[in-house]
Amino acid sequence: LTLNWNPIMVEKQGFKHFMLKEIYEQPGVVRACLEAYLDEGWSADQQKSPVTMAIAPALLADLQHIQIVACGTSWHASLVGKHLLEQLAGIPTSVHYASEFRYAPPPLMPNTLTIGVTQSGETADTLAALEMEQKRRSESPEAADQPRLLGITNRPESSLGRLLPHIIDTHAGIEIGVAATKTFSAQLMAFYVLALELAYQRQTLTPARLEEIVTAMRQLPAQMELVLESQERYIEELAHEFSETQDFIFIGRGINYPIALEGALKLKEISYIHAEGYPAGEMKHGPIALLDEKVPVVAIAAPGSVYEKVLSNAQEAKARDAQLIGVAPMNDADAEETFDSLLPVPVVDELLSPVLTVIPLQLLAYHIAARRGLDVDQPRNLAKSVTVE
Ligand code: G6P
Repeated sequence: LTLNWNPIMVEKQGFKHFMLKEIYEQPGVVRACLEAYLDEGWSADQQKSPVTMAIAPALLADLQHIQIVACGTSWHASLVGKHLLEQLAGIPTSVHYASEFRYAPPPLMPNTLTIGVTQSGETADTLAALEMEQKRRSESPEAADQPRLLGITNRPESSLGRLLPHIIDTHAGIEIGVAATKTFSAQLMAFYVLALELAYQRQTLTPARLEEIVTAMRQLPAQMELVLESQERYIEELAHEFSETQDFIFIGRGINYPIALEGALKLKEISYIHAEGYPAGEMKHGPIALLDEKVPVVAIAAPGSVYEKVLSNAQEAKARDAQLIGVAPMNDADAEETFDSLLPVPVVDELLSPVLTVIPLQLLAYHIAARRGLDVDQPRNLAKSVTVE
């Protein structure tokens, strides 16, 4: 009898690649984050915060502004974070590429929280931007208060953890695939909880709205499982159709605009197909010139404030013969009519939709790359963490 296995296969638990395994780990990661960050028995009538994650009160008191620095996928999570911090907690928030921030930081403003987001905690530009900010704030009379810096990372034991005294741990477990997936979902959870805590403290949401969001967050893991179970086969088939495609455009609006960027990044990172993410309303200011039957458009159309707008942007693309793939609600006649291929996700509160809409895009990128026979976990020219400038 010969046993046909090797240690790597065991670590992959039967999945062909770490990336696919990590995509499937996401419902569990979100469950772990909910457990770590939220009070399980909380309801609005208790008149306390639903958040149990400890964040030093001095970091959050009287905030007038939040600035976030990050790179790559962490930068995309930060854009979702900006939307949440502004829309839920009413705090003006700016998001910067760390590599830009460190050489041209914005003017100092008081009562500012600086957040560094890095799954590895080792990205050189992010660390340098935070170090620079810490230094210039401690030296400046305008930034009178103590520098307030907060790290969001999956590796609290990292260089980031040593640099900053305040850290939110994203509890995703080690991620091996170079293209970030489960750590992105975990970063989103950290932002939801930070925004909820600030919303509670600043009373920007009614207790009923706060409870609505918390209840909906608790349903996310099961809904993520549903997306994974119901779609993988179909996306694998779709990937066959598009494995030779040379260009893709991803569009989304509002809180799903960063998901369009992330979908495009995943695809280019691992399949080496040119892909651009755009805010759907900007399509007519440039990318529409690229469209013809050879350039498919992936639209993220989650029900909510911009749903009809995204559908009409998608129809503009269709009028230029582009093939339309829609990440759209289940059982929706408008979506069925608009899109040539539909990647359905359950209907959720618009603000929570990125946690679900990103999954079909991760799977699409994965299956196209796998179909092209590429090294999904170790794409050419990329590193898991970029520790040099
Ligand atoms: C590299 C990785 C990306 C990651 C980025 C930022 O480019 O390939 O997947 O998003 O670094 O990494 P960080 O560890 O700072 O989140």
